[in-house]
Amino acid sequence: MGHGHGPYDRHRNPEDFARYLGKLENPERAAWQKPDRVVELLGLEAGDVACDVGAGPGYLALRMARAVGPAGAVYAIDVDPRMIEAVSRRSEEAGIRNLHPILSDARKGALPPRRCQVILVVNAFHHFPDGAAYLKKLAGRLSAGGRIVVVDFHRRKLPVGPPPDHKVSRADVAAAARRAGLEVARERRFLPYQYFLELAVIRGSKPGRASGRPVGKGRGARRPPPRGRARGARGRAARSTR
Ligand SMILES: C[S@@+](CC[C@H](N)C(=O)[O-])C[C@H]1O[C@@H](n2cnc3c(N)ncnc32)[C@H](O)[C@@H]1O
Repeated sequence: MGHGHGPYDRHRNPEDFARYLGKLENPERAAWQKPDRVVELLGLEAGDVACDVGAGPGYLALRMARAVGPAGAVYAIDVDPRMIEAVSRRSEEAGIRNLHPILSDARKGALPPRRCQVILVVNAFHHFPDGAAYLKKLAGRLSAGGRIVVVDFHRRKLPVGPPPDHKVSRADVAAAARRAGLEVARERRFLPYQYFLELAVIRGSKPGRASGRPVGKGRGARRPPPRGRARGARGRAARSTR
């Protein structure tokens, strides 16, 4: 997904939208993006509520919607109305009804309307005007034991991704997370060009304070997973680096 087709708009999206869409949805992307594995590692279950921020045309969000099933919900947030249109069209074509697009304003940063077990941010963090501020707001929408998962390009020369000066290093994401009251709870190292960081609210920190009461509404509502259960991004006890 070497963008390589500037100039870029104010959201750092390439102006050649059709080509950009083609890159995001290119079947060859799966070889390095491993989208099924990414979604599997989120540990989503039927009935979960989740969110994809900077969802684009829904490359990951559609998979997440399938993982949570009809009893669950996935919110797909994006600042570009053309992406919102694309994700709506894709989900309609696929007969998916539990995927809810939300048009965001980059300055305000839209939030999912319900608390989420997982909030995913793939190749979008480097687009945010203030990543730490947005992470802090998003952390406040996590359910107890929930995780924000950030996947983005290593800040070095790669055959895919944006130009180097658009990238945000792993260390800078971790530092932004800490400023947002989050810590790297787990890191996965299976992607050739990207880091995969699971961020959890630092105990005692305000943003995503886990109340222990049921979260979400209706069918997606649930209690936090039992302690010691390491399953995926949402597993509270997960701390190893693999
Ligand atoms: C490289 S694309 C990644 C899309 C999708 N996550 C994927 O991996 O296929 C980055 C997306 O982030 C969106 N974006 C840019 N700035 C944003 C912001 N401030 N808030 C939310 N989304 C944003 C863009 O419109 C674009 O759809």
